[in-house]
Amino acid sequence: MSTPAPLALAILISGRGSNMSALIRACQTGTIAARVAVVIADRAGAPGLERARELGIATDTVAPPAADTPAFERALLAALEAHRPGAVALAGFMRVLSGEFVGRYLGRMFNIHPSLLPKYRGLHTHRRVLAAGESVHGASVHFVTPELDAGPVVLQSQVAVEPGDTEATLAARVLATEHVIYPRALGWFAERRLAWRDGAAWLDGRRLEKPIVEDFRATACR
Ligand code: GRF
Repeated sequence: MSTPAPLALAILISGRGSNMSALIRACQTGTIAARVAVVIADRAGAPGLERARELGIATDTVAPPAADTPAFERALLAALEAHRPGAVALAGFMRVLSGEFVGRYLGRMFNIHPSLLPKYRGLHTHRRVLAAGESVHGASVHFVTPELDAGPVVLQSQVAVEPGDTEATLAARVLATEHVIYPRALGWFAERRLAWRDGAAWLDGRRLEKPIVEDFRATACR
């Protein structure tokens, strides 16, 4: 039997692209059975674009015309479909996509969010975690559904909130774990171990009633 072609992955970014770099690295080292077909940013100056080009990845920019979501999404769809991706990874893509757009990629579009969802959806998660006095924090890889940060969570990392943490130290501790769990979850998808069925995430043929959790509290990722 011939080996199936590697999953073609498109990555959408808005900023520095450290998760993007982690995904590209995982593909290029053969850690996951995927190839990054394209990196698309919603602004020309996104630093991750330069990094992607350095790593030999095709890039594109689709900048939104002011307040015109349908035109932006039409352009984004065309840019994506030029590369026929099998999966789309949002990696610090700071834009809310319409239900129609999300529906186009339902079951094969992923996001990484810096909190233990369903806690702390939305922005400024680290600040809010510190203000709430939490002792555990982390990140979540989830399928993207039309409701923001609400799709089925596949994999989470847990880190300790340390005494004296600032938003920056906590963000850095969480980010290091994002670079581990995002490639891991997409690797599962590339191997067809992870699937979307009946509005839920399934791993190895079993419906995930709750996310898989990787506990980084006792590891060097702290
Ligand atoms: C990460 O914290 C990720 O969880 C969130 O946006 C940030 C992107 O960082 N969705 P980077 O651009 O991947 O470095």
